[in-house]
Amino acid sequence: MAKIGTIDVGEFPLLLAPMEDVSDPPFRALCKEQGADVVYTEFISSEGLIRDAAKSVMKLDIYEKERPVGIQIFGANLESMLQSVEIVERSGPDIIDINYGCPVKKVVSKGAGAGILKDIPLMVSLTEAMVKHTKLPVTVKTRLGWDQDSIKIVEVAERLQDVGASAISIHGRTRVQMYKGEANWAPIAEVRNNPRMHIPIFGNGDVDTPERAVEMRDQYGLNGAMIGRASIGYPWFFREVKHYFKTGEHLDPPTMEERLDAARRHLQMAIDWKGEKLGVFETRRHYTNYFKGIPHFKDYRQKMVTSDDAADVFAAFDEVEKEFSGYEFV
Ligand SMILES: Cc1cc2nc3c(=O)[nH]c(=O)nc-3n(C[C@H](O)[C@H](O)[C@H](O)COP(=O)(O)O)c2cc1C
Repeated sequence: MAKIGTIDVGEFPLLLAPMEDVSDPPFRALCKEQGADVVYTEFISSEGLIRDAAKSVMKLDIYEKERPVGIQIFGANLESMLQSVEIVERSGPDIIDINYGCPVKKVVSKGAGAGILKDIPLMVSLTEAMVKHTKLPVTVKTRLGWDQDSIKIVEVAERLQDVGASAISIHGRTRVQMYKGEANWAPIAEVRNNPRMHIPIFGNGDVDTPERAVEMRDQYGLNGAMIGRASIGYPWFFREVKHYFKTGEHLDPPTMEERLDAARRHLQMAIDWKGEKLGVFETRRHYTNYFKGIPHFKDYRQKMVTSDDAADVFAAFDEVEKEFSGYEFV
């Protein structure tokens, strides 16, 4: 059984990765329904939180049905990070996660996200201060290192554990790799195999089939898989992996009815949460995958992703239902 602090997250948990503009409450709810054991918010700027920037504050919204849920924050300034821990706590998450992995320039250039991989002592002291500042478990998400020549993840993970991190999720790429090439899980397994490590080590990067999840569990011996892109527009990925774990067989893909139901509920939840304009806009990226495999889908998709009006998008769903009801996905 893996435990994050005192939270029992089951045997080889599947974690929904933090993803900007994706891992919002509606999507987290859908992933949770389909078997995600732990869900994380997208990253939230500590500087934005302490300035009370509306955009950052809204990202703190969490709901009972999604627990256990972790709120992820990023920053490189100790004072701001500590203050934002206090702000985050008021939202009542189960876990606080620190982002030490974001590779984008505007984050890295301020020494935050993966930028901190260039300053391991700061990474360790920041983590220690945050752990001391809260009673909640603090988890860390990071990458293998800054670049190929500076991979010290075994040592780094040990130091993070020593200062009180409750779990570490490791994306098997360096900052320099961004999202290119294949994720390398071997260094993550080295972390796991370090006899001094006792906290859960979750693997991340390119888990895109149930077989890959089994590989991460059985060949690499990790304690859970964090899943990102494979779930976008496809929350059923979680149940498919779980079914495969249990039976060694592939579950049939979701039916048209299930896909339409998810798309409709996703859009409605997003509108309820963010209002029509943003709700319509931010669910767009999911539709390609929700309906992947339907022949000549382009025109319908076009309607779904170009209108700012929720009624048009719902109408497009109705059209798809009329045209393709009972369509068998392979
Ligand atoms: C659209 C998108 C947004 C992301 N935003 C975040 C984020 O806010 N915080 C974070 O730690 N990682 C973020 N990531 C990285 C993912 O959490 C994950 O580490 C990465 O996608 C590799 O996992 P995957 O191969 O399962 O997608 C993001 C990735 C994507 C594709």
